[in-house]
Amino acid sequence: MARINEHYQKLQAGYLFPEIARRVREFSAENPKARIIRLGIGDITLPLAPAVVQAIRETAAEMGTEAGVHGYGEDQGYGFLREAVREHDYAARGIDVAADEIFVSDGSKQDSGNIQEIFGSECRLLVTDPVYPVYVDTNVMAGRTGEADDRGRYGGISYLPATEENGFTPDPPDEHADLAYLCSPNNPTGAVASRENLTRWVAWAREHGAVILFDAAYDAFIQDPALPRSIYEIPGADECAIEMRSFSKRAGFTGVRCAYTVVPLKLTGETASGERVPLHGLWARRQATKFNEVPYVMQRAAVAVFTPEGRKQTGEQVTYYMENARRIREGLTASGFTVFAGEHAPYIWMRTPGGISSWDCFDQLLERAHVVGTPGSGFGPSGEGYFRISAFNSRENVEEAIERIGGAFGG
Ligand code: MLT
Repeated sequence: MARINEHYQKLQAGYLFPEIARRVREFSAENPKARIIRLGIGDITLPLAPAVVQAIRETAAEMGTEAGVHGYGEDQGYGFLREAVREHDYAARGIDVAADEIFVSDGSKQDSGNIQEIFGSECRLLVTDPVYPVYVDTNVMAGRTGEADDRGRYGGISYLPATEENGFTPDPPDEHADLAYLCSPNNPTGAVASRENLTRWVAWAREHGAVILFDAAYDAFIQDPALPRSIYEIPGADECAIEMRSFSKRAGFTGVRCAYTVVPLKLTGETASGERVPLHGLWARRQATKFNEVPYVMQRAAVAVFTPEGRKQTGEQVTYYMENARRIREGLTASGFTVFAGEHAPYIWMRTPGGISSWDCFDQLLERAHVVGTPGSGFGPSGEGYFRISAFNSRENVEEAIERIGGAFGG
């Protein structure tokens, strides 16, 4: 008899976004005339930048020639892309990351979910709460946690509440952990970690021999150049942190798929006998065994993001979404809502009106305004009473959604 992985039975409900899609489908079936505006999942709506489209066209043509066809890619991704990442995302900001430390992948969701495989099953986990569900669920699947309690918190994970009081960017705790997931700009709260906050996290990780898994998928949305975009801006982070970044949101690649993870050569973990082992080699081994590289065409598309035209065009896309975020923030505030963030991230984090639950807010917004958002409680217990609104949509839809939400609840 094929026994199942029973750790899957511990998972609470379905994955958040399919559950939202299910409720929306049900509502649409019952209300076929309702024009629904989707500000739920953070999925891009603008067309691909012309520089990216041109690269895809040219590379597809190249692949149709004997001289230009490419089969399996290079381990860790093509050198041309890793070199461009090194130069533009790191060296240009004075950060020393080598091309060899970069692993090209097909998404930060995958990388942030898979990275736990290279760590021992007994590692103690720390997450901020609310949290991107992938970090938690993948560790549950791997058997690194106990059962969930009645608030949905799994045994074996320390949850660090991200609250209004701490500006949604908690400082490290006094307690010990081995692995800490941090995300800045944060999904879902849209809060961004300050240099001081990250400095305290790096000091904590070094003191505890912990590894920080730093998800910077939204770094391009940071508007203030003084704020850190990479954890490697903090001295010592290359000895305690892995960083993940993505082309998904910054360049409209959610349907194209390209991202990367940096595993510094200096970064080590410990064996049971106390020997230090480089994590870079473990991740390289894991990827070589389970992953066959992002298609050549898409790596060429990604490198086009770094050309002068690509930077200008994708920069304009980010500006467009951030203008949406500004309008949502200001529009909802004017309608009497208490909203946070949306200044350095494409997400607005809003207190639910009248203190209703996050899922009640979801249902009421759908029914009364035909607008879809994301219930904060879907990201963890400390998200209860909050609601996430995404700025990824057309200006017209965003304007209309602000009006409809105000009309449905405001005043
Ligand atoms: C979100 O809406 O939280 C994200 O789009 C999910 C993701 O990037 O996987």
